[in-house]
Amino acid sequence: MAFAYDLHIYPSALFPQTHPSRMAAIGTLSGLTPPPIDNCRVLEIACYDGSNLLPMAAALPASEFVGVDLASSAIERGTDLVRRSGLTNVSLQCMDLMDFPADAGTFDYISAHGFYSWVPDFVRARMWEVIDRHLSPNGIAYVSYNASPAGHLRNATREMMLFHLGRARPPLAEMSLVANGFLADMAEIAGGEAVWKSWLEFESGRIAHRDLDVLHHDELAGVFRPFSLTEVCADAAKGGLQYLGESRLRHFFRSPNPDLEKFGPQTFVESEQYRDYVEFRSFRESLFCRAGLELSRPQWEERVEDVWAASSVQWDGDAFCEPHGPLRISTDHPEILSLLNKLVDLWPSAGRIEPHEMAAADPLLKAGVIDLRAHPLVAPGGPGPRPKASPLVRAQLAVNTETSTLVHNIARIPDDEDRQMICSLDGSRTVEQLPSGLAARLSDFYKMGLLLGASA
Ligand SMILES: C[S@@+](CC[C@H](N)C(=O)[O-])C[C@H]1O[C@@H](n2cnc3c(N)ncnc32)[C@H](O)[C@@H]1O
Repeated sequence: MAFAYDLHIYPSALFPQTHPSRMAAIGTLSGLTPPPIDNCRVLEIACYDGSNLLPMAAALPASEFVGVDLASSAIERGTDLVRRSGLTNVSLQCMDLMDFPADAGTFDYISAHGFYSWVPDFVRARMWEVIDRHLSPNGIAYVSYNASPAGHLRNATREMMLFHLGRARPPLAEMSLVANGFLADMAEIAGGEAVWKSWLEFESGRIAHRDLDVLHHDELAGVFRPFSLTEVCADAAKGGLQYLGESRLRHFFRSPNPDLEKFGPQTFVESEQYRDYVEFRSFRESLFCRAGLELSRPQWEERVEDVWAASSVQWDGDAFCEPHGPLRISTDHPEILSLLNKLVDLWPSAGRIEPHEMAAADPLLKAGVIDLRAHPLVAPGGPGPRPKASPLVRAQLAVNTETSTLVHNIARIPDDEDRQMICSLDGSRTVEQLPSGLAARLSDFYKMGLLLGASA
């Protein structure tokens, strides 16, 4: 039988929260000693076309990356890109997770994004078995899932959309469009309790903004099951794993909610569970490590100097701004200005936060302005004497206007001439040997995370 992900495409995407650099940084802040990410093994379960795994492999050439997925067409596309880019440290394998080989060895970082809530119970159980059997002793695993109770409410609208699709029977390619329109109609004509109409309006608004291909495979998939954090942690514990925390830094740095104190003393997992009730959270990206390891999250400040800090903000003459986001920081606080200027200069590479910079770093970490990495990812100091674009960047830009970068985001290069220039940067020529137009653009290309950097 043809597989859903071969019949209808799923959008390729990158997830910085699954990067070993992020997992190791959070592990370090939590008191663990995660394996060095520049010499590690990484497994991605449900890697689809490798769009998340290949940029990691390009940034960390001495580490080994393995991806498995059941969608053969996606694995073929990804394998073609591996071949064209010449990456030798990554392999994508078309495989049912049920058949994952016992002799695959250990992995220091294992991720499964967009998988857990969309597969049957026996595949979920197999995922924990694979993690338990193959995670190295100090390794970290990432699992994302739809969170309850918010996910249960989403299931109500999903059930309605599936009922309507079962009757309307649109062609496969139009399913999400029809479901979308149906929900909008329902929101308009719904009666009964006011809360019901409000919910349908809210959901139809959310669904209307959803990418149609994502909607097709997420809300309209055969399985779409929310889990509470406590349920997931209980399943992880059966395989000897404990909850480490969430993979988004803004979750790591948030302060305890004092309103929850009235519910009595709580473990970390219990307080996180209460927060889902308060915040109506519908998706979790949770990290796990071996149960025997000692965690000491509250002392994270003592370990900030063991990880690398980076910030993508840019100075626009008036304020520090996110390149593609709404964030603007204008401040005359000298220490904050000095720290931000240092990170802007270092970008796309990263630097240490010194103890005397900690007070300035604190609000920036909590606001998500500073990203923490376990490794600089790009060598500092600019494009270097023999500028070289990442082989993956060159392979992607040879056929596309978008590419993944070494710092795990997407760069858009619409200009043909720019793309040709970047593709020609194979490290064989010195800056002096490059045409002057290209030499003048090197710094821009480096800042976009496309070049390997000075000491590479
Ligand atoms: C929602 S997609 C997520 C893809 C990617 N991780 C992402 O988040 O963009 C679910 C993926 O799980 C894969 N998958 C489902 N069941 C599987 C199984 N039993 N073994 C391996 N992969 C499976 C599908 O092929 C698909 O690529």
